[in-house]
Amino acid sequence: MIDSYTGKISAVVEFVRDITEKVKTEKQLKKYATKLKQMNEELEHRVQKQTEEIKNAERLRVLELHHRIKNNLQVISSLLNLQSEKFNDDTVNEAFRDTQNRVISMSLVHQKIYHTKGLESINVRDYIEDLIEHLISLYNGEKTLVKIDIQDTYFGIDTIIPLGMLINELVSNSLKYAYPEDKYGELNVIFYESNPGLYTLIVSDNGKGIPEDIDLDNPSSLGMQIIKSLVGQIDGDLDVDGNNGTTFIINFNG
Ligand SMILES: Nc1ncnc2c1ncn2[C@@H]1O[C@H](COP(=O)(O)OP(=O)(O)O)[C@@H](O)[C@H]1O
Ligand SMILES: [Mg+2]
Repeated sequence: MIDSYTGKISAVVEFVRDITEKVKTEKQLKKYATKLKQMNEELEHRVQKQTEEIKNAERLRVLELHHRIKNNLQVISSLLNLQSEKFNDDTVNEAFRDTQNRVISMSLVHQKIYHTKGLESINVRDYIEDLIEHLISLYNGEKTLVKIDIQDTYFGIDTIIPLGMLINELVSNSLKYAYPEDKYGELNVIFYESNPGLYTLIVSDNGKGIPEDIDLDNPSSLGMQIIKSLVGQIDGDLDVDGNNGTTFIINFNG
C-alpha cells in the first residue's frame, strides 16, 4: 500500500513486516523440522528395540524346544538301557546298545545347539569330539589310541545329524571289531573342507580289516544299511579301503 503523502516509508514498513513474518515462519518451520526429526529418531529407536525383543523371545523359544528334544531323546536312551537289562542275550544287549548310541548321537546335537551362540549352527569339532569321547567310554576304547583332527566348521542341524550318526556307526564299528583279543590299535578321525563347500570325513583303523564279502551297494547288515542311507542323505560319496585295517572316506557338500 502506498501512502499518498509519504508513500515510500509506508512501503518500507510493509516490506519490513513481510520480512519479519517470513523469518518468524521460517523459525517456526525449523522448530517443527527439528521436532519431527526427534520424533522420527525416537520412533526408529522404539521399532529397533521391539524388533530386538521379538528376536530374543523367538531365540529363547527355539532354544527351549531344542532343550526339550534333547531331554526326550535322553529319556528314550534310558528306556532302551532299562529294557536291555531284561535280556541276558549278548546279541540282544548289543543291538540295544547300538540303538541307544544312535539316539545319543542325535541328543548331543540338540545339546550343542543349546550351548552355542549361533542358533541354527553347531561347532562340528566340539560335537564330534564329545561324541567320540562318549563312544570310547562305552566300548572300552582305552586300548585304542584315538587321534581326532577336525577342522573348526559350523554346520546346520540337517547336515550335522547325519554326519554325527555316520561317525557313530563307523567309530563304534572300529572300536567293536577292529582289534580282537584285546590288541592295542589306532583309530583316526579326520574331517576337513577339502575344496570350497566340499567336505571330507575319514575314519580309519589299523585293525583286522573289514570282511571282503560285505557288499556296500547292497548291504545286508543294519549298520551298513544305515551308513549307506546316511551318505545318501548328505548327497555324499563313500569309499572303503580294507587294506591295512579299515578306512572309510566320505566326501559331501556341506
Ligand atoms: N572297522 C571294522 N573292522 C573290522 N570289521 C568290521 C569293521 N567295521 C565293520 N566290520 C564288520 O562288518 C560287519 C557289519 O558291520 P555293521 O553293519 O555295522 O553291523 P554290526 O551291527 O555288526 O555293527 C560287522 O559285523 C563286522 O564284522
Ligand atoms: Mg555297526
